[in-house]
Amino acid sequence: MYPLEAVALRAIRRRLIPRASGDVLELGAGTGVNLAYYDAGRIRTLTVSDRELSQRLRQRARAFGHRAGLANGRLQLRELDAHSLGYPDGSFDTVVVTHVFCSVADPARALAEVRRVLRPRGRLVFIEHVRPDDPTGHLVDRVNPVWHAATGECNINRDTAQAIERAGLRLHVVRRSGHSFLVHGVAVKPSEES
Ligand SMILES: C[S@@+](CC[C@H](N)C(=O)[O-])C[C@H]1O[C@@H](n2cnc3c(N)ncnc32)[C@H](O)[C@@H]1O
Repeated sequence: MYPLEAVALRAIRRRLIPRASGDVLELGAGTGVNLAYYDAGRIRTLTVSDRELSQRLRQRARAFGHRAGLANGRLQLRELDAHSLGYPDGSFDTVVVTHVFCSVADPARALAEVRRVLRPRGRLVFIEHVRPDDPTGHLVDRVNPVWHAATGECNINRDTAQAIERAGLRLHVVRRSGHSFLVHGVAVKPSEES
């Protein structure tokens, strides 16, 4: 992942992650690479989560908490499965996911959970690698079973932007890059009346 990270992802994270505001939940945080990009001034609470919490994530979260002055329980680390978040409806203003929906077993179910825990007008900030929307997409479809078997969980041919819309979130800002391998942007949960 490193060359891609160096070339494209850092700039995308730098542009999108600071948009997280209010009560924020990050899913599938991995080693906590996004923590360097949050704008602490916009955050009331930050819950950083993954299915399994790595040592690196714990260290980075602790360092971020000190640096950002997120004391008194404003920064939480949680072991969470994206399929079943266990929070009441409308708990968060922002959910952040980066390179997670390529891996979750049931993206529709996980996105339904994201929608449920967002408040009306709450936002999903996302960066995902997806099936290219050009002729190489067919090649990627053929390679995916081998890739999935080799990585144990990752898929390179999902249409995550469409899955986000199908979950009832409105794509607000969306861009493709990296030869259309990456989709990134913000999706909004409609308010009750819209
Ligand atoms: C490719 S890593 C991405 C890590 C990080 N978000 C990033 O941008 O570098 C995918 C992460 O999703 C997590 N993950 C996969 N399935 C999950 C699930 N069902 N619930 C929560 N996290 C999950 C994995 O544990 C892993 O940390």
